[in-house]
Amino acid sequence: MLISRFLCIDLKKMIMTSKQIIFASRPKGMPVKDNFVFEEYELPQINEGELLLQSMFISVDPYMRGRMNEAKSYVPPFELGKPFMGGLVAKVIESRSANFKAGDVVTGMLPWREKMIVPEKHVQKIDTSIAPPSYYLGILGMPGLTAYFGLIHIGKPKAGETLVVSGAAGAVGVVVGQIGKIMGCRVVGIAGSDEKTSLLKSKFGFDEAINYKTATDLKGAIKAACPNGVDIYFDNVGGEISDAVIRNINFHGRIPLCGQIALYNTTELPVGPRVQPWLLTRSILMQGFIVGNFQSHFPEGIVQLAAWVKEGKLSFIETIEKGFEKLPDALIGLFHGENMGKMVVEV
Ligand SMILES: NC(=O)c1ccc[n+]([C@@H]2O[C@H](COP(=O)([O-])OP(=O)(O)OC[C@H]3O[C@@H](n4cnc5c(N)ncnc54)[C@H](OP(=O)(O)O)[C@@H]3O)[C@@H](O)[C@H]2O)c1
Repeated sequence: MLISRFLCIDLKKMIMTSKQIIFASRPKGMPVKDNFVFEEYELPQINEGELLLQSMFISVDPYMRGRMNEAKSYVPPFELGKPFMGGLVAKVIESRSANFKAGDVVTGMLPWREKMIVPEKHVQKIDTSIAPPSYYLGILGMPGLTAYFGLIHIGKPKAGETLVVSGAAGAVGVVVGQIGKIMGCRVVGIAGSDEKTSLLKSKFGFDEAINYKTATDLKGAIKAACPNGVDIYFDNVGGEISDAVIRNINFHGRIPLCGQIALYNTTELPVGPRVQPWLLTRSILMQGFIVGNFQSHFPEGIVQLAAWVKEGKLSFIETIEKGFEKLPDALIGLFHGENMGKMVVEV
């Protein structure tokens, strides 16, 4: 009796620790592993309204590069000395909330930690009967919603039109192209390897795909792949690829301006061809957007994407790196084209 009471007290005092990744320094140009530091931290006591989580999948995304800069943007910069953070899927280990129970799977914008205690309002439950948990970081998460709203609301695709998508083999790009096919468009993808371009055609139904790294005349290759010109250009990358696409754009074309990854690691202001003459003379609509602009429509977007996944009209692909310690490499890998589809780390 005495011993068991003693044991209880001792267990209560037991300190739980976990690994976390701290944002240690701001990169100049391409991020490097030294921008991150791994450390152990002590988890606090769990309080009413809180959950103890075990990370399952952690997302790495190109937008994180922008938050590593000091400059103000649509989201504040990451703070030095604090845990890095982003989209995460986790299992509830212990719940002090009536709304969650141990075993639930949740998602949220959370710190890069193996285990953590978070207020319940920081996470939402996910339905793992619809799709694997990691899909909520990809096709049923932020990248899928970006593809859906950018293409439908800004690209406004119509059957018979030609859609070109850059970064086509990435998390956003593969979804954009497939939605374009559902809408009846001719779809041409641009990506950085032969393996990626052949998969775009064989698995994702793209009509044509161009390897921008081996094309000697990219503008000419786009012209050949789009005999009727380009009606919609979904721009994920910017830079010289976009310069080449925009020269092929048709009268009244639309350009959802989604990402500029070709420029995220540049240290000097890039100077390229001025695109305004094409926009002006061809009456083009080019509109930048952040997926959060469509937040009030997210439920509708998720229902539609989940329905297409269930009906087999949308497929997805992931590059899954295994191990918490792979996170910095996985993020850096995005800027070297190391992923097919969504890059995630399985913890
Ligand atoms: N507006 C929004 O709200 C929003 C939301 C999500 C994402 N985005 C943007 O959308 C784009 C795609 O995001 P994602 O999550 O789907 O990433 P992703 O395409 O899955 O991964 C990045 C890919 O970009 C390509 N890339 C890397 N460096 C490049 C360069 N210098 N030039 C051309 N391509 C390069 C690589 O593929 P290759 O092998 O083909 O080069 C790489 O695999 C990014 O620009 C991102 O910032 C915007």
